[in-house]
Amino acid sequence: MSIAKILQERSSTRAFLDKPVAEETLNTIFGHAQLAASNCNVQPWQTCVVSGSTKDKLKAKFMETLMSGAAPNPDFNWTPKYQGVHRERQFGSANALYTSLGIPREDKKARQMAMIRNWQFFDAPHAVFFTMDKYLDIMGAVDLGIYAQSLGLLLNEHGISNCMQGALGQFPDPVREILQLPEERGILFGMSFGYADDSADANNTRTDRADIDTAVAFYD
Ligand SMILES: Cc1cc2nc3c(=O)[nH]c(=O)nc-3n(C[C@H](O)[C@H](O)[C@H](O)COP(=O)(O)O)c2cc1C
Repeated sequence: MSIAKILQERSSTRAFLDKPVAEETLNTIFGHAQLAASNCNVQPWQTCVVSGSTKDKLKAKFMETLMSGAAPNPDFNWTPKYQGVHRERQFGSANALYTSLGIPREDKKARQMAMIRNWQFFDAPHAVFFTMDKYLDIMGAVDLGIYAQSLGLLLNEHGISNCMQGALGQFPDPVREILQLPEERGILFGMSFGYADDSADANNTRTDRADIDTAVAFYD
């Protein structure tokens, strides 16, 4: 499938079948993602793929953390408040999701519950944490973004759906604890993936994009 077709057909998936991806397929996909470009070829990504009991342990630890009322403490600067058109688009994407889930605007509790699904990995059989040495900061974040997009498209090429999740970088301590990562390792963000449950309302969510003339300028 062409990259253009994948981009036209893909959307973030937030409900999955209870069907793991074959190990051989995972090895092929992660092997190809390894070919992603990076600044000076430093390849800063340290990718942690969680499945099975490790994923279950993480989910339980996330739930415990959320229940304790702990505030998010991301390793990187993931806290700017969107302004202007960015804020409008942020609301647009949230509304698209809540509308497909049938959650009315004023039902804060239901919205919170939908948000919590992030840390349950939307019941996906697998999740990835995109991690890197903290000192790399924005330089490493650019490389991890390029790597993550490559991985997402490769998964789509194999019929495997996914959802990038900034939410998975919001509570890095449980991740470091369960995956036994050193303190100097930062958790940037994550992604849940697996085979989409096409019958789930969440997966009817569609977002739009601005026209290219508002985003791209060509200079002769
Ligand atoms: C870096 C990044 C972080 C994201 N974080 C989350 C998240 O925490 N939870 C979530 O449900 N979706 C998350 N998304 C998905 C976006 O909401 C989604 O990509 C956007 O609304 C466009 O919709 P589409 O992916 O269906 O085209 C994230 C996407 C990206 C690229």
